[in-house]
Amino acid sequence: MTDKSRKAGKAPTEDTPIGPTGRPYRGFPTPPKLDGHGPARIIALCNQKGGVGKTTTTINLAAALADYGRKVLAVDFDPQGALSAGLGIATHDVPTIYDLLLDTKRDPREVIVSTNVEGLDVIPANIDLSAAEVHLVNEVARETILARVLRNVSHDYDVILVDCQPSLGLLTVNALTASHGVLIPLECEFFALRGVALLIETIDKVRDRLNPSIELDGVLATMYDPRTLHSREVLERVVEAFGDDVLETVIGRTVKFPDASVAGVPIITFAPEHQAAQAYLRLARELVARGAVA
Ligand SMILES: Nc1ncnc2c1ncn2[C@@H]1O[C@H](COP(=O)(O)OP(=O)(O)O)[C@@H](O)[C@H]1O
Ligand SMILES: [Mg+2]
Repeated sequence: MTDKSRKAGKAPTEDTPIGPTGRPYRGFPTPPKLDGHGPARIIALCNQKGGVGKTTTTINLAAALADYGRKVLAVDFDPQGALSAGLGIATHDVPTIYDLLLDTKRDPREVIVSTNVEGLDVIPANIDLSAAEVHLVNEVARETILARVLRNVSHDYDVILVDCQPSLGLLTVNALTASHGVLIPLECEFFALRGVALLIETIDKVRDRLNPSIELDGVLATMYDPRTLHSREVLERVVEAFGDDVLETVIGRTVKFPDASVAGVPIITFAPEHQAAQAYLRLARELVARGAVA
């Protein structure tokens, strides 16, 4: 057991039920109120595979943490702009993260937009960001550009979540360089673990060369369907590979997520009583209990 997981939650008792990860399924306490805000802990949501739940997790974890009184900034760092769209933010003809990357002296507050979730702000992205890799490749200290941008707002927030694009290119390296921690969503499907070794290798390289203190905050199993043997087997393999780094909270597969995205709101707003909303609230509590978020 790692120090981190020992800190987490209550000690299991004999009648604690066994959860989907094969460990006792504990409760996590409601996060205590904060006296003040900031500086933020920055967490990158990263997996070079698309469709694993990075954006869905960023939106809903952000909303859950805001619900617990944290001041949250979600950074859309994917030219597809799905995070912005999922929170109902128009991205056409507005300043975006791309403008901040091109001019790190610019005040991010000119770009940040508030959402209809209290305590949750967003730096939007649009297709302009796809030019960033080419544009920034000749910059001095090109890997630290996002870190310099976020330094300017860190004091206003308790947590900053960066929704990465599905690649391990310069943008993702920027996200990892700017972050204190990384959260890896893994879809409970065939080939879930394919490519994860390369992702871990990339994180190790960033730790070695650019950001010595970056931590793996957790591996999050998403789109889990307890009725299928397949889903259960994949989760078992993930636990074999990552042990206690696999978060106890597991996100089930449900059509509520696509439905909420279409509505442009987090699941907590769309269907607060649904188990999917409850799962993201639990994830927020688990991350606070693990010390990944204040
Ligand atoms: N737990 C879930 N159950 C069902 N569908 C989901 C779940 N999480 C995400 N989705 C859907 O899967 C698709 C991909 O999710 P997304 O979060 O965009 O992945 P990524 O950002 O990794 O590409 C989206 O259409 C989303 O609505
Ligand atoms: Mg995405």
